[in-house]
This record gives sequence, structure tokens and C-alpha cells, in this order.
Amino acid sequence: MTTAQTQDLTRDLDVQPTPLALLLLGREADTRSERGVDCPGDLPSPSDPDLVERARAAKEKLGDKVFVLGHHYQRDEVIQFADVTGDSFKLARDAAARPEAEYIVFCGVHFMAESADILTSDAQQVVLPDLAAGCSMADMATAEQVAECWDVLTEAGVADHVVPVSYMNSSADIKAFTGKHGGTICTSSNAERALEWAFEQGEPNSTKVLFLPDQHLGRNTAVRDMGMSLDDCVLYNPHKPNGGLTAEQLRDAKMILWRGHCSVHGRFSLDSVNDVRERVPGVNVLVHPECKHEVVEAADYVGSTEYIIKALEAAPAGSKWAIGTELNLVRRLANRFAPEGKEIVFLDKTVCFCSTMNRIDLPHLVWTLESLAEGKLVNQISVDRETEKFAKLALERMLALP
Ligand code: 13P
Ligand code: SF4
Repeated sequence: MTTAQTQDLTRDLDVQPTPLALLLLGREADTRSERGVDCPGDLPSPSDPDLVERARAAKEKLGDKVFVLGHHYQRDEVIQFADVTGDSFKLARDAAARPEAEYIVFCGVHFMAESADILTSDAQQVVLPDLAAGCSMADMATAEQVAECWDVLTEAGVADHVVPVSYMNSSADIKAFTGKHGGTICTSSNAERALEWAFEQGEPNSTKVLFLPDQHLGRNTAVRDMGMSLDDCVLYNPHKPNGGLTAEQLRDAKMILWRGHCSVHGRFSLDSVNDVRERVPGVNVLVHPECKHEVVEAADYVGSTEYIIKALEAAPAGSKWAIGTELNLVRRLANRFAPEGKEIVFLDKTVCFCSTMNRIDLPHLVWTLESLAEGKLVNQISVDRETEKFAKLALERMLALP
């Protein structure tokens, strides 16, 4: 994407691209979240005028053999080829419900493709168009760090009372750890139900939850939705000895929050909320629960990407909305609802794309679909059997939540 295109794209939403955002919009490496994987094939040029036609032709050739999933944060140029779009919960279910598709092309990030691989049959291959599309939040909890944390909990004498609840935005290893220790996965649309389930698993007053890896979703759900206090939550820092906590703090806590966060949603601040309320009188502030607690507390509505879309669908004409989530989605919603007289602005003044979601672009999608159409399986995401067994247990507990 050129700078001029980016400026076009952001003008309508009244936001300014930062130099970092411009860098990440391109195809340069993002050294902090990139997994250091180059595309193993010849990518078509982004300026090839036939890219849309090529994607359409390859997809048509593949027919029912391919099923393309698109997360709401994907670029428009990619979303137009998705057979279904959704939040991470809906896409996990949709992937599991398509046993006839030989190839599941996941336009999202690495942990989503792993989950799709776990939930689909052995005869199906899951493909991620760019292997470097990781998630910086998922990378904040490694298997080694989490195993060490469990040792700390064991030493403190609390591990027997702890039920792990891991956000979908985690690696297959973390999901397997969760399954092995009697826990469940959650997404931003079912975190409250997952926590209720977890607290029902042990003795009423002694059960604790280890919430991985997003401290904000854990804290927001516990405090805002379930009436716990901030004092019921402690923050486990994997970079400090014993997580930076005493055994007494661990014993007193109800929620042990892993110190991870989303760098995209972390940009929204209380100032963003106060500023938009001044700029747009009567605005409704609607944010994703990955935002910081003070932002969520100051917002009018909080919910997952699916929730955000449904809230805007149901909004009356003439209403005004400031949305605190990824910019590709906000921009698409602003364009979609403008003809209905709904005014939608981005919550922050600077660009807030998810750089790794944005790595899946049209050249990568064309390359993927054309390779599959030629019978070449590329960029397969495959979780090993042992990890899959326990990760599946945790994912199935989530899918069975009432
Ligand atoms: P949902 O799609 O579950 O709302 O999550 C947002 C997100 O950050 C995905 O990575
Ligand atoms: Fe990860 Fe945040 Fe991007 Fe979602 S928006 S994929 S949590 S970095």
C-alpha cells in the first residue's frame, strides 16, 4: 500500500498515520512480531493490475476444495475473497463445520490457523498465506514461562486450586497446557461464561483462575462483568522471579493475570475517550475488551468484534459512534453504515492497524490460491499430535460452554 493510499484510507476517519504505522502497513519486516519467515515462493507484485482476477480464477478452479476464512481485522482486498468472516470464536466454529473442504485458507493470524488445524480433520490442510502473521500478544506467553509459573503456583501451595483459562490468542502449546490442567479456552465473546465455568470447577471459595495471556481481557471480565474487585486480581510478570508475587499474594488472589497485552488495543487511552467526547458531542464509545481497564470503564459499551458489528447494525440512524478496535474493521464499518446516516469515527487520533493481520495481503492470497490450484500445498500450519490432543480438550470445553 502506498503512502498516498494510506492517507486516502485514513482521511475519512479523521486519523493521522504515524511513521511506525506507515512502516508496518508495507511489506517490510516487523522485527518484534515477525517470526522471521520469508515467503517460500514467488509473490506476485503488489502493483499487478490482475491480482483480483487471478485470485478469483484460482478460487473458482479450487471450487469446494477450498474454504477461505477471514478475520474482521483483515484488509478489504482480502475480505472480499472470504467465504465467511467473523471473530476468532465464530471462525473456529466455522472451520470445524466444514469437513468437506480439503484446504482451509485462514486469513488471520498464526494462533487462529493453529486452532483451525486442531479442530479440523486429518484430511484437511490449514494454510496461513503469510507465515509471519503472528500475534505479539500470543508471543508474550511461551510454554517454558507458563511451565515455570505453574511451578511457582505449586511452591506457593495454590496450584491445586487453580483453573487455567486461556484466551484464544495464545499458541497451541499454551492451549495444550490449559487442557492438561483442567482448563478451558475463551474468546472475547465468551470470556465471562468461561470464567463462570472455571470458578464452578473447584470448591466454591478456594478456586482461582490463571488467566493467560491478556491481562486486560481477564481483568475487564472479572471486574466489569463479574463484580470482582481490582484487589481480587494480581499480575504475574514472567520476567520477574516468582512472577513478582509473594506466596501470600497468590493465596489471596482470585484472578492471577498473566502480564500480556495487545499492542494494538493498548494504544487507546483515557485521553482518547475524553478527547472524542469533546470532539463529537453525543458520541457512543464502543471498545474491545482487550483495551486497558480505565478505557473500558470510561466507555459506554464493550464487546468483541462480532458484538461491535451487531451493535452498529442495531444502532439508530443519526447516532454517533467512536470505536476502539483495529482500523481495518472500523473503516469498513464506517463505510458500510454511512449511507444509513450512522457516523462512525476511530477512537484514537493515530492509525492503529494490527501489523501482523495486515501481513496477509492480496499478493500473498493470490500466491496461496494459485499454488493450491496447481496442487502445491504451501504454508501449512500443522500442530503435532500430542499438543493437539490436549489443546483440543481445552478448545472443546470452550465449544461446550452454555
Ligand atoms: P475477537 O475477534 O475475538 O474479538 O478478537 C480480536 C482480536 O484481537 C483477534 O486477534
Ligand atoms: Fe494479536 Fe492484537 Fe493483532 Fe489481535 S489485534 S492479532 S491480539 S496483536
